[in-house]
Amino acid sequence: MNPEILSRVLLQGGTVIDLQARTVRRADVLVAGGRIEKVEGSIEEVGGAEVIDCKGKHIAPGFMDMHCHLREPGREDEETIASGTAAALAGGFTRVCPMPNTDPAIDTEAQVRFETRRAEDANCARVHPVGCCTKGRQGKELAEIGAMVSAGAVAFSDDGSAIADAQVMRRVLEYCKAFDVPVISHCEVKELVEGIANEGRMSTKLGLKSAPDVAESAQAARDILLAEFTGARLHIAHVSAKATVDLIRWAKERGVQVTAETCPHYFTLTEDALAGFDANYKVNPPLRTEADRRAVIAGLADGTIDAIATDHAPHLKGEKEAEFDAAPPGIIGFETAFSLGYEQLVLTKALSLTDYIARLATAPRRILNLPAASTAVGSEAELVVLDLKAEWTYAPDRVLSLSRNSPFIGRTMRGRVAAVLLGDRLFRF
Ligand code: DOR
Ligand code: ZN
Repeated sequence: MNPEILSRVLLQGGTVIDLQARTVRRADVLVAGGRIEKVEGSIEEVGGAEVIDCKGKHIAPGFMDMHCHLREPGREDEETIASGTAAALAGGFTRVCPMPNTDPAIDTEAQVRFETRRAEDANCARVHPVGCCTKGRQGKELAEIGAMVSAGAVAFSDDGSAIADAQVMRRVLEYCKAFDVPVISHCEVKELVEGIANEGRMSTKLGLKSAPDVAESAQAARDILLAEFTGARLHIAHVSAKATVDLIRWAKERGVQVTAETCPHYFTLTEDALAGFDANYKVNPPLRTEADRRAVIAGLADGTIDAIATDHAPHLKGEKEAEFDAAPPGIIGFETAFSLGYEQLVLTKALSLTDYIARLATAPRRILNLPAASTAVGSEAELVVLDLKAEWTYAPDRVLSLSRNSPFIGRTMRGRVAAVLLGDRLFRF
């Protein structure tokens, strides 16, 4: 991607969302040398700044996706760090956390450094790697957690599968506690999983191999109790089931250090989407019922679910064309996340615009111990320009990811990311 390099930029006429002050106000933003120099009602054009017309648009801190899959190393045919971080920027994500279920898995300091180096070369969204909890994601021996922290890993997860052995999970939590980093749990009790469709009305009707919601919630319950016991920080990935939301709410009330994320597909779609046997609706955990979808939205609204992550999971067309039970789970998500959330959460009035943006920008940084996202004077420019009135269609030829496995291709959506300003680089979309 070719950004414009601009030493002075004036974002003029926009509405600025300040997540710390919790204000939304009309203001111009002057960025000089990559830093926010002024935010004022009206700034006179000075010093030859490039003026970007932001009338009718909103300016917010860049989003952070704390759960995605960039497939490098190993499956560079599906996605690379360069292609994935470009697609992330188009979705307004200025920072991303790739999960370590690559081939080989990211379980050493050298591999964490490899990922960050690749990201620096690509120079798009910033990358904060997640390291494996266990060597080779085998769920047996602990990985080099401390060494990976020193190389820049911000959290640990065996995502793609759960850690079945409770004693191993306990040790992982204890180690991560010592480094004050969260453990991200992909909750799935393997013994309960026969296939990746929600067990219930639709799986029976369609004859699909299935997994019940308790496969997710039972593991979440165990991990919450282990987090309470160890005093460690637990983050529950891709919450899809009402019972999981209820457990997290209970755990937070108890003072357990638990946080959680969900993904746009869980608050947009239900298992009904499986009727056409299209594997682009196959995700793990599976799409569930309308009651689950509503519970996920309620969890986001009351803060039980802290963050929205994409679980961007690229797979090739050929792989997804296999029969439903055999196709790999996962969908790409960077480029549609903001619009889906805007449509399902803000336009429905479930969340205010600021609360919605906070789930995308504030919460992930807080969970991962990174500096707060800011539109304040003095901070480095890391801004998204949002056009909330835009109506756009996700056409296959605009997909920046190397894979196109999205059930939202062809869908017309409201609200889109118009531009991203990262330091002195302006990306227009
Ligand atoms: O749908 C998913 N895809 N869920 C996961 O946990 C893994 C991911 C992938 O890596 O494809
Ligand atoms: Zn997962």
